[in-house]
Amino acid sequence: MNFSQVLLDWYRLNKRDLPWRKTNNPYFIWLSEIILQQTRVEQGLPYYLKFINEFPTVIDLAQSKEDQVLKAWQGLGYYSRARNLHFSAKYIMENYQGKFPEKYNEILNLKGIGEYTAAAISSFSFGLPYAVVDSNVVRVLSRYFGIDMSFNTSLGKSKYRKLAQDLLDKQNHAENNQAIMDFGATQCTPKSPKCDNCPFILNCVAYNTNSINKFPFRNKKNNVKKRFLNYLFINTDNHIVLNKRGAGVWQGLYDFPFLEYSVKKNDEQVMFSNEWMLFFKNIDYKIESVSDEYIHKLSHQHIFAKFWKINVKTTSLSNHNFIKKSRLKNYPVSILIDKFLRENDMI
Ligand code: ADE
Repeated sequence: MNFSQVLLDWYRLNKRDLPWRKTNNPYFIWLSEIILQQTRVEQGLPYYLKFINEFPTVIDLAQSKEDQVLKAWQGLGYYSRARNLHFSAKYIMENYQGKFPEKYNEILNLKGIGEYTAAAISSFSFGLPYAVVDSNVVRVLSRYFGIDMSFNTSLGKSKYRKLAQDLLDKQNHAENNQAIMDFGATQCTPKSPKCDNCPFILNCVAYNTNSINKFPFRNKKNNVKKRFLNYLFINTDNHIVLNKRGAGVWQGLYDFPFLEYSVKKNDEQVMFSNEWMLFFKNIDYKIESVSDEYIHKLSHQHIFAKFWKINVKTTSLSNHNFIKKSRLKNYPVSILIDKFLRENDMI
């Protein structure tokens, strides 16, 4: 027996009884898939029932006020999902006279719908041959075939998508998609999968190499970059240098000029570094103080910052923007700069 036959046999005996499986109404299926995106089935189910009761058709949803939609969503989190549902319902009214589009590419084109959801709606509602690939599917495939690739890489993504598509049963697209998701959700679970009574036990690579927990393969945690910044709080009695940031983190916010190093340096090393010399070339300055280190953690970088208070006599330095100190509070700044300014009673 091939993979999808085994899977379908398993599903027919073990499938969960879920209301969105008893309909092929694309609007209901769309609602269920969006609700289940970051939400467990048990938590999502009452919301699904509430939504189809309160907004029985895409037209009802389109004609509702956003407040009412958000209210019905209240408690589910990730509210952009609800806003996108509402937006797309209105879009379907305007562009498809309220009738849910039936082609994969049209469905994919709706705001809030990605490849997974487009494949789910296309197959569950319209029987189209698009394989779903969600985290359940990735786990099942990676274990069964022993795939040592993360779905979070473009190579991994295309590998899993192609495999899922190749495995899709030629007749029962919808059932096959439901089956592999259910199999991942209830049998081939992330922790303690039920291998003892698994129908794939003979051929599962992960099981037979005793490496269930190595799959799905994950990329090593993103290397968090360490950045060592020395902010220069360059000021006269009444003015201070504050520049607007360009691209990168904190784009559009204001901050002080800074000298950046890829390794930690002590204060002396900073003051005698080439970067410092270059910055202060032709500037008459006096160091007033240097702060303790501030540590600011972002998802991809940890910032270790010191703030140097530097007195100057001029309010004109090329490429730098002086503002009145009394106006500091009017400028949008990062949390880090805000913290420094508050702790030093400057705003
Ligand atoms: N999670 C996401 N979509 C689902 C579905 N159609 N059935 C069960 N769980 C799901």
